[in-house]
Amino acid sequence: MLAAAAMSLHPDSPLDGLAIGEQPEPAPLDGWVTVTVRAASLNHHDLFSLRGVGLPADRLPMILGCDAAGVTPDGQEVIVHSVIGDPAAGGGDETLDPKRTLLSELYPGTLAERVAVPRRNLIPKPAGLSWEEAACLPTAWLTAYRMVVSRAGLPAGGGGTVLIQGAGGGVATAALLIAKAAGHTVFVTSRDETKRKRAAALGADEVLEPGARLPRRVDAVIETVGAATWGHSVKAVRPGGRIVVSGATSGPNPPADLTRIFFLQLSVIGSTMGSRDELVDLVAFVERTGVRPLIHEVRPLADARAAFEQLLGGEFFGKLILRPPA
Ligand SMILES: NC(=O)c1ccc[n+]([C@@H]2O[C@H](COP(=O)([O-])OP(=O)(O)OC[C@H]3O[C@@H](n4cnc5c(N)ncnc54)[C@H](OP(=O)(O)O)[C@@H]3O)[C@@H](O)[C@H]2O)c1
Repeated sequence: MLAAAAMSLHPDSPLDGLAIGEQPEPAPLDGWVTVTVRAASLNHHDLFSLRGVGLPADRLPMILGCDAAGVTPDGQEVIVHSVIGDPAAGGGDETLDPKRTLLSELYPGTLAERVAVPRRNLIPKPAGLSWEEAACLPTAWLTAYRMVVSRAGLPAGGGGTVLIQGAGGGVATAALLIAKAAGHTVFVTSRDETKRKRAAALGADEVLEPGARLPRRVDAVIETVGAATWGHSVKAVRPGGRIVVSGATSGPNPPADLTRIFFLQLSVIGSTMGSRDELVDLVAFVERTGVRPLIHEVRPLADARAAFEQLLGGEFFGKLILRPPA
């Protein structure tokens, strides 16, 4: 079958190890189901895998991709939850299972015509969501949903204030749309003026250059950029507020700014993906509010290299989608 796979690992030139071509059919384990993929989306995770972050060389070749929506052998339309883990081992939350893994880390991923997953990882796709929209939900949107709704401590009925760093990314655009749909005031930063304008058009209340002074301190920061924005994030939070962090695209080891963290009694909260239950809640949220994932571009799977080049160059706003041949 056609797939996009990591064949070798290159920390500084990740696309050197990317191959678009024939890969073996998935081999479902006991209790697993093979899903025919109708749409899959790219994530920064796919670039990190090609750099060798979280993907050791002895697992190659590895089909990339964490996100998919597709059809089961008995015709059900499904969204695939990417976290493979045992909820019981994580105190009821599979993301806390010490052995949890994402598709494309240990088992072949979703950038393929077919993908095998545990049956419990399948969630019904609502008819009102397109294949492309549904394929955005399991990673970027689920991560943003957990950060904004479950982890940021914002009031459930709306009325909080939140700063989102790096407006153009998959998680960041999801966080903006989710936070606005939940009734919060949203400030965003981006390096790029066009992206700042697009964030304003999507409903951001203030759009700023990275590091710029905010109209006021916020209740929570949604941080995925890391070293480049961390200092600004720490300065942006009100006393007692939270910084929720799920990524470090620009580098993982920012100065901690410990003085401000203890003096203002800030909370720094890690967040990773989301549970199956949260994905079910997210699907209900998008149905209830009418909010929809922002899609930058849809391409055939055969053109995956061009989509990866866009991801690497940051030349997009929202999600990049691949569609396998029908
Ligand atoms: N823990 C988890 O479960 C989880 C899940 C999903 C994602 N993540 C992580 O979250 C991060 C974002 O993922 P994604 O898929 O949304 O990535 P993406 O779509 O590629 O977006 C990259 C983002 O990084 C910003 N950025 C990159 N380099 C920057 C720099 N030097 N200075 C300022 N901003 C910079 C961009 O903002 P502008 O271009 O607008 O400035 C953009 O928002 C990645 O590190 C990813 O691994 C973690």
